[in-house]
Amino acid sequence: MQKKDTSPHGFLPNFEHFATQAIHVGQEPEQWNSRAVVPPISLSTTFKQGAPGQHSGFEYSRSGNPTRNCLEKAVAALDGAQYSLAFASGLAATVTITHLLKAGDEIICMDDVYGGTNRYFRQVASEFGLKISFVDCSKPKLLEAAITPETKLVWLETPTNPTLKIIDIEACAHIVHKHRDIILVVDNTFMSAYFQRPLSLGADICMYSATKYMNGHSDVVMGLVSLNSENLHNRLRFLQNSLGAVPSPLDCYLCNRGLKTLQIRMEKHFENGMAVARFLETNPRVEKVIFPGLPSHPQHELAKRQCTGCPGMITFYIKGTLQHAETFLKNLKLFTLAESLGGYESLAELPAIMTHASVPKSDRATLGISDTLIRLSVGLEDKKDILEDLDQALKAAVSFIYYNDDDVDDDYFL
Ligand SMILES: Cc1ncc(COP(=O)(O)O)c(C=O)c1O
Repeated sequence: MQKKDTSPHGFLPNFEHFATQAIHVGQEPEQWNSRAVVPPISLSTTFKQGAPGQHSGFEYSRSGNPTRNCLEKAVAALDGAQYSLAFASGLAATVTITHLLKAGDEIICMDDVYGGTNRYFRQVASEFGLKISFVDCSKPKLLEAAITPETKLVWLETPTNPTLKIIDIEACAHIVHKHRDIILVVDNTFMSAYFQRPLSLGADICMYSATKYMNGHSDVVMGLVSLNSENLHNRLRFLQNSLGAVPSPLDCYLCNRGLKTLQIRMEKHFENGMAVARFLETNPRVEKVIFPGLPSHPQHELAKRQCTGCPGMITFYIKGTLQHAETFLKNLKLFTLAESLGGYESLAELPAIMTHASVPKSDRATLGISDTLIRLSVGLEDKKDILEDLDQALKAAVSFIYYNDDDVDDDYFL
């Protein structure tokens, strides 16, 4: 359900009761003998049974853990889902979902996904007899044309990483669900549960690298999955235990804690991200900015129809060459040059050399991941400090000779 009041910049209204659910669902003090208000970190790997085979819901910590339970209940509520499962990493979630398939089945994957997802499907899953096709699902007709009788899984990520294309989840779900046996997964890492609910748009599974916004503090590697189908949930619960890629109780505690501030963090990421996008868009040292919150984004209208806001992920092409991009990154003071995203601190990176180095060069060229493409994860610092840092690093990287006020001669890079 969504509230009547609108979120900023014409996006969909926020989901009702979101902050309340993030704070209270799954956290009831009555579930603990101690009545602890904050869920304890339950480190025990095993649980006493009353008689052989008679237990109180927990037997062994891989198959179920009290702290993990709290987290999974909270995440299900935030996704408007019946069920949620936590994994040791986002990729562990991806691998576990892929085990729903069998040799000979085909996966259709958005062509512009996170490099590690691309690498897993292309270099690992394909070795186990799965067929992988990469398709630009931002054009749903291409998805429709690509589906074959072997297709059993469609993997979307929206916005895409790093070129921030928006995929129309509802349109893709409509196509996919003409075929009863295809599972539609949406990697919702960039948006978080606060800005997008793929299940309500027709996805079967919503997946996260919780390492990013869901935890939000850059101190946990974790994956999350939400869904409504009881049958799929039972199969995934079986695989979670059988494959064993579960998160530690400490990580569950930390991520559960991170969720308590998800709403206010995402609102601030949106505010700071919008300020940075506007600053970059009018900066003569910048070739092009991609941010779905800007009216110049080709799918801005779709973003407003599908999401309640935008995270602090901004991609821009600096004017010049690889050398200018490297000089810019070297001169940043507040932004840290690092992979990952979605934490409270601002990060910057060069996908062609860092996060997307495992994507073949020719594919990078097709996707527009050039040597001058820089990805920012705008954090929660003071907006003015963020803008000042970007400004000084851009000035250090790209120098111009101005011929008049309006015209910047691009041949005069130093
Ligand atoms: C969009 C997206 N999906 C999945 C992953 C993989 O998650 P993890 O690093 O938690 O395994 C990442 C990691 O960067 C990501 O950005």
